[in-house]
Amino acid sequence: MNADLVIVGSGLFGLTIAEQAATELGLKVAIIDRRHHIGGNAYSKFEENTGIEVHQYGAHLFHTSNERVWEYVNRFTEFTNYVHRVYTRHNDIVYPMPINLGTINQFFNAAYSPAEAKALIQDQAGELAGTNPKNLNDKGISLIGRPLYEAFIKNYTAKQWQTDPSELPASIISRLPVRYNYDNRYFNDKYEGLPLDGYAAWLERMAAHPNIEVHLNTDFFEEGHEFSRSKVIGQAPVIYTGPIDRYFDYAEGDLSWRTIDLEEEILPIEDFQGTSVMNYADANVPYTRIHEFRHFHPERTYTKDATVIHREFSRFAEHGDEPYYPINTSADREKILKYRELAAGENQVLFGGRLGNYKYFDMHMAIGAALSMFDNKIKPHFTGGNKIV
Ligand code: FDA
Repeated sequence: MNADLVIVGSGLFGLTIAEQAATELGLKVAIIDRRHHIGGNAYSKFEENTGIEVHQYGAHLFHTSNERVWEYVNRFTEFTNYVHRVYTRHNDIVYPMPINLGTINQFFNAAYSPAEAKALIQDQAGELAGTNPKNLNDKGISLIGRPLYEAFIKNYTAKQWQTDPSELPASIISRLPVRYNYDNRYFNDKYEGLPLDGYAAWLERMAAHPNIEVHLNTDFFEEGHEFSRSKVIGQAPVIYTGPIDRYFDYAEGDLSWRTIDLEEEILPIEDFQGTSVMNYADANVPYTRIHEFRHFHPERTYTKDATVIHREFSRFAEHGDEPYYPINTSADREKILKYRELAAGENQVLFGGRLGNYKYFDMHMAIGAALSMFDNKIKPHFTGGNKIV
């Protein structure tokens, strides 16, 4: 094994560390990934029959207000001026999301001013005034009132969690944003867009430094190659971005995750739904949303003969499923504290990324966290400061 630093996982966290270590410190870096491609969940590919870019692990929209992260990602890709907007279908009518004055006026068939709409929602939210919401259902009603909650949140949430919201803890939501204007931009961040020539090209440029070697189809926990756990630990510092419970052979039990199933269909029409994301808020439709990928790139000249959609189904992850969203029950929170103690005692291994932290990270957060780990831990280790222990 001939590397100064070994990175397990080529997602945005691992790629950022690798790029910085190679460029800033001239280190020889080995990145391994058990998948057949780099980029982790941000990876996309151009569907071969239509040429439409499809996000393989669910739609990925880049957005950030972090100046450092924005400057950093622009070293590897330009971004389009795509602005994300989401619509939702309820009782066969389409409404703009997040809930805003347009949604409210359409739903109540009214022309309320911002102040009138606010007064109405406050009044409806007052139904459970003076009570302490014990479950997600009561919490939802107390935040935005029963009519809007039941139309847009209740059944959608039940599908996401495969659980009736009256049996889910109130703590899952702290707020439900309602905008008393017609702004239906999904993100509030200063910068937003999609990589101009696609995610794969962006991610490949991050790994292009000659000091970075990428080994795909290589699982850290499998023997028979030079980067297995038994060969690497103790030889070079390791940045591990896989699931933290897997690293410790599930010694404290499994951490629970939700996963999604994506059903891809190529339809022989130019446009299926007229927008990139349509949520399905009702219980009688089994999927939570449909993505139509051509709409992420209106600047591209895609075929008019076909379009690619993904129907998204949400469920609890089992062993072998891709872990997507941490569930974070109180039992999970106890386990993760124990895993973090074990992680702190691990010699020359740092845990990072969403799987290594058991935390949902947007892409800009994963990159920001990796830049901080590089500054605070990796750079000092190799330049005469504190060692990674
Ligand atoms: P990531 O999961 O990308 O990478 C980890 C890598 O480690 C994987 O490639 C995996 O194969 C590898 N690995 C694991 N175990 C291994 C082992 N034993 N050996 C070798 N390799 C191993 N963010 C955003 O900003 N906008 C968005 O719209 C979305 N949308 C979105 C949709 C869905 C469905 C999900 C689940 C997530 C998003 N995200 C997002 C979040 C985004 O995907 C996330 O920020 C990045 O994936 C984080 O990068 P990481 O490197 O931490 O993990």
